[in-house]
Amino acid sequence: MLALIITVIILSLIYYLTISKFNYWKQKQVLYPKPIPLFGNFKDYLLLRKCIFEVADDIYQKYPNEPYVGVFYGTEPTLIVKDPDYIKLILTKDFYYFNSRENSGYHDKEVALRNLFFTSGDEWKIVRQNLTPVFSSSKMKKMFHLIGICNGEFEKTLDKKANSTDTDLRTLMAGYTIDCISSCMFGVNSEAMNNEVNIFRKMGEAIFDSSTLRAYKNITRTIWPAIFYNLGQRLVVVEVMDFFQSLIESVFKEREYKESNRHDLIDFMINLKQKKYIHGESISKMYEQPKTISHKVDDDLITSQCASFFGAGHETSSTILALTLFELAKNPEVQDKAIAEVDAYFNKNGNLFYESVHETPYLYACFNEAMRLYPVLGVITREVMDDYTLPSGVSLHKGIRIHIPVYSIHRDPNYFPKPLCYQPERFLGEEKQNILPYTFMPFGDGPRICIGMRFAMMMMTSALMTLLRKYRVELAEGMPRELIYEPGGFTTQIGVKIRVKLIPRQ
Ligand code: HEM
Repeated sequence: MLALIITVIILSLIYYLTISKFNYWKQKQVLYPKPIPLFGNFKDYLLLRKCIFEVADDIYQKYPNEPYVGVFYGTEPTLIVKDPDYIKLILTKDFYYFNSRENSGYHDKEVALRNLFFTSGDEWKIVRQNLTPVFSSSKMKKMFHLIGICNGEFEKTLDKKANSTDTDLRTLMAGYTIDCISSCMFGVNSEAMNNEVNIFRKMGEAIFDSSTLRAYKNITRTIWPAIFYNLGQRLVVVEVMDFFQSLIESVFKEREYKESNRHDLIDFMINLKQKKYIHGESISKMYEQPKTISHKVDDDLITSQCASFFGAGHETSSTILALTLFELAKNPEVQDKAIAEVDAYFNKNGNLFYESVHETPYLYACFNEAMRLYPVLGVITREVMDDYTLPSGVSLHKGIRIHIPVYSIHRDPNYFPKPLCYQPERFLGEEKQNILPYTFMPFGDGPRICIGMRFAMMMMTSALMTLLRKYRVELAEGMPRELIYEPGGFTTQIGVKIRVKLIPRQ
């Protein structure tokens, strides 16, 4: 009998905890869909039936006229912000109040998370300030010869596949982007392009593991971080950090702990290591004077930043490259225009140069249109870092989560007419001027916008030019025209292989 009573008490307590915050939006008089215990409004995501952005999209469509909607991400109150003016406040204008992505109190639980993507506050700000010069235009230009070498290899790889009726673009492009990042960031030749069983590829797969177990780890960590870490769990497996630690150490040794003339991330990190401390401005409210602060540089910080560039950089860029080619294969008239631009460029310049990124606006538009349809982060997250009142008068407590439904906004016909059509012209000339601020955010926006954006565009444009110079693409036999997504992925992951025919041009 006693056992029964204790069981009932424990179950009642658990039940209470799963619903205890469900009055939050009612008290604030914010519209919200009815949540269910434990799952909140994200049951289909938590059961891995849909991606998080697909669930957010269902809610987005249900409340067409609201600037924001209250939801429960599992048990946690979260605001889905739909209105571009409110998004501007959150991402840029009132950035101080929203400077974290989420779970700001937990990034120090794993060495792997001590990087730009996961940290917040002063720690994030000072590292971001110090790392920003690594991705400047002038640094990109200096690195471009390394991208050129990778493109030479890429061309050879393509030539081996010439006339292939079934090329898996994601595998092909993952090899290319891993080689570019390894060369430009770490100064090593990873040889991933011609080798599908390769340690760098293995590390990439470990970071973006899309297994059910990993999906649940990711979900538990984002919604219930305290439970996740108290159970002794880790998001990133130890092998990944060990690998990057020994890789970086060996390159440091090879360069005798001195800067080389490669102008890559490792040169920058050697410099940081020598300085021992980095300095910068503290994060501060608009009306406060920022203070100058210092932050210690240790091996963990260096390893974690390097691993995060590898992780954040290769999967995103290779997926967008594959998806752009998928859309070009589906839309031959768009592909014709892209090829015409590539031919005109090579007729004029003869070879690939850094400037090609700026001299090929149609290719740029093709990438933008692919990223509009398939943003790598379908939901961008932020966390309220200090109590905040929205212009509507609704107050948000510290710790409340914010979800920006990028996927839905990119496909909203009010912002992009005929949203499901692939039309790169939207991003050219007058049409481009019609795009409202904060309705197109493939790289995010505000101070936390993707730091690798320029590098990604340089790497992707070069690959597309190398490929279209000699080949056309068509969908392979049986390749579906509509894609499905892999639920539970950290970034937008496509649930099928993207297969094309690689046809040599006459
Ligand atoms: C097509 C390629 C890429 C896409 C679409 C992309 C997209 C994004 C997005 C949406 C964010 C979040 C922005 C926000 O919260 O406002 C982000 C952040 C980030 N990305 Fe990228 N990314 C790409 C390539 C890269 C590359 C090549 C690197 C590095 C080599 C990189 C490194 C990072 C880092 C470190 C952050 C965190 C920045 C911060 O919080 O300060 N990304 N990226």
